[in-house]
Amino acid sequence: MTPAADTPDTRFLWWPYTQMATSPKPLPVVAAQGVYLHLADGRRLIDGISSWWTACHGHNHPAIRAALERQLKTLPHVMFAGLTHAPAEELACRLVASLPADAKRKPARVFFAESGSVAVEIALKIAVQYWRNRGQTRTRFLAFRDGYHGDTLGAMSVTDLASGFHGAFADYRVPHFFAELPRDEARRAALAHLLERHGEEIAAVIVEPRVQGAGGMRFHDAATLHAIRTLCDEHGVLMIADEIMTGFGRTGTLYACDSAGVAADLVCLSKALTGGMLPLAAVVASDTVYEAFHSSRMEHAFMHGPTFMANPLACAAANASLELFAREPRLAQVAAIEAQMRRELEPCRALPGVIDVRAMGAIGVVQLSHPVAASLRPAFIARGLWVRPFGDIVYLAPPFVIEAPELSRLTAGVCEVLSEWSQREAALPCEVSTP
Ligand SMILES: Cc1ncc(COP(=O)(O)O)c(C=O)c1O
Repeated sequence: MTPAADTPDTRFLWWPYTQMATSPKPLPVVAAQGVYLHLADGRRLIDGISSWWTACHGHNHPAIRAALERQLKTLPHVMFAGLTHAPAEELACRLVASLPADAKRKPARVFFAESGSVAVEIALKIAVQYWRNRGQTRTRFLAFRDGYHGDTLGAMSVTDLASGFHGAFADYRVPHFFAELPRDEARRAALAHLLERHGEEIAAVIVEPRVQGAGGMRFHDAATLHAIRTLCDEHGVLMIADEIMTGFGRTGTLYACDSAGVAADLVCLSKALTGGMLPLAAVVASDTVYEAFHSSRMEHAFMHGPTFMANPLACAAANASLELFAREPRLAQVAAIEAQMRRELEPCRALPGVIDVRAMGAIGVVQLSHPVAASLRPAFIARGLWVRPFGDIVYLAPPFVIEAPELSRLTAGVCEVLSEWSQREAALPCEVSTP
């Protein structure tokens, strides 16, 4: 792999999750349209991972662009304290109406932010203050092995250290409880036991519903998610659903919680919220959570306020994106993508070194026996595909508008690259890498 050589244009930039001294130079992108990324040298790549799982309608969708152009003419930005605006009001209505409710709680209030990690920070802080407003001190959280919730302090403190992202900050993280997902009776009993012993210290359980993304695209079934909800209720602990990766159709239903009929107390959203056009995040609080803040006392108010929260342009993009979900057959497209990926990735199962092939919604995964990660990336680029294997997985998470032949190019690319890899499989060195 060629190490990055700084050009006059890149010498002041610092890339994420990148050893700048050894990584290949990032590819210059000049345009993105539909499922394609257009490079400065004229090549185009199929974006097989929807730009970190954001561009659910494909890049630069005309309906979202038109909404942005309209919004740009009147109100690109305004602060959100003491002021309000129609795009945020409309978006809050849409989110509250679209999220699942149950007999005990229904989505009630939306707090906006600009990134997923900050949404997680906000959800954690709301949970802590919820208990404080009710006269209890609860400052610990329970998170799951292989979970990932972001890179800021609170978010990385509820991320499994074993995911490999945050080793350098092991001593800086805030200590919390970690448990195995309750996939079976034994693990369910272990989680119940932990909640029994520490429930009164724990503000909330945080989970990525149905799919743990950056921790390795690991799936769990609806019953497991349901068990978490039930245990939280039994032990009087809040449940935070981190739908930042899974929200907006990625797992086959609009929200992953829909598939289990689970209503969380707090839901974190971001990534595909704006159809991948602009940064925006939201925390949706249930009526029961919000009631603890609604009082005549200022100290019960939530003291948090990102400068660019509810940016009108981003809210307009999100409204247009949700309109597309209502108008176009996105979930049917996701179901077709799942069926095609299952079929076309299946041959990988026979390859030496492949230990699993799975798909859920528009996520297709081939899991390898050991981490090969970044070493496979150039082979995809050479085939005109933007795919970023990490850890021990090669995965696809394409835009939902991808056509069958383009998806076949992606799945064929995965099969070819892995077949070549498995042939020369001479114990590649293990490495930690990121999505
Ligand atoms: C489940 C989950 N939570 C939180 C985050 C953090 O979001 P952001 O990168 O926008 O801070 C991510 C990002 O991948 C995620 O997948």
